[in-house]
Amino acid sequence: MFYKPSVKYLGHVAIVRAPLESGESLEKFASQILSSSPRVRTVVVVEGVEGVYRTPRIRSIFGEPLTETFHRENGIAYKLDASSLMFSLGNSFERLRMKRLPERGETVVDMFAGVGQFTIPAAKSKAEKVVSFELNPKAYEYLKQNIKLNKVGDKVEAYCDDCRNSPKYGLKADRVIMGYLHGTINYLPAALKIAKHQAVIHFHELARPNEGWRDLYNLCVAEAKQNGVELQLEGWRVVKTYSRRLWHWVLDLRLSQPLFQPSCDR
Ligand SMILES: C[S@@+](CC[C@H](N)C(=O)[O-])C[C@H]1O[C@@H](n2cnc3c(N)ncnc32)[C@H](O)[C@@H]1O
Repeated sequence: MFYKPSVKYLGHVAIVRAPLESGESLEKFASQILSSSPRVRTVVVVEGVEGVYRTPRIRSIFGEPLTETFHRENGIAYKLDASSLMFSLGNSFERLRMKRLPERGETVVDMFAGVGQFTIPAAKSKAEKVVSFELNPKAYEYLKQNIKLNKVGDKVEAYCDDCRNSPKYGLKADRVIMGYLHGTINYLPAALKIAKHQAVIHFHELARPNEGWRDLYNLCVAEAKQNGVELQLEGWRVVKTYSRRLWHWVLDLRLSQPLFQPSCDR
């Protein structure tokens, strides 16, 4: 439930989040946006986001029914259908960080690629190779288009698959991006299997404000221990405020000494 209408812009699409009871006033709000912002052609009203694919729940569309749009940010163009795919504008600094952090020669694995929110910046970095997994065929189609659009096809390998299958691809990652919320911990075992010794894992999740990063760190350390490895916290940051009770955090975790020598190849 959203408490007051708010609006964000993805290219020519205005995305309004509004309280359920807003009724007619919503139409007024949408027509105000359409008349006052020349670049806006379509207003999409979103009630929430649901499911594993994080699909926006659309309530109504005003103006032209053109929901496919281009968003430009940090020298990157993203094409997507704003009525069926999530693109969080609040994550823009994190996208920039993924363009700045990878070092020369790195293999980066993006476990939840979406339309390329982190894959494209990582491919524009000094990294040698980016391997991306995306489960939703629709998001995957846009991911492929965005790889072409941004001319990074020589660096990116993209798979329409569950990232939990990533260990089957024989990958050895220097950096793993886990850009997902609502249960990211369930995917940490796969990330630990593909991460090299000393690799960095960017672990995204929601937690309480202020000290929530501590809860997430303890959760990750416990999961890593179960998998026979140790994690060290290199840093954490608030990506954005998600709701009154939850912040979106990212923890930078470095895989340190294995607790024991695992029998599988690492
Ligand atoms: C909300 S989007 C986030 C995209 C991007 N990582 C970001 O943080 O902006 C999460 C994406 O993960 C995908 N996804 C969910 N479960 C997955 C899985 N098991 N393997 C690969 N992709 C998955 C969803 O389809 C969705 O496109």
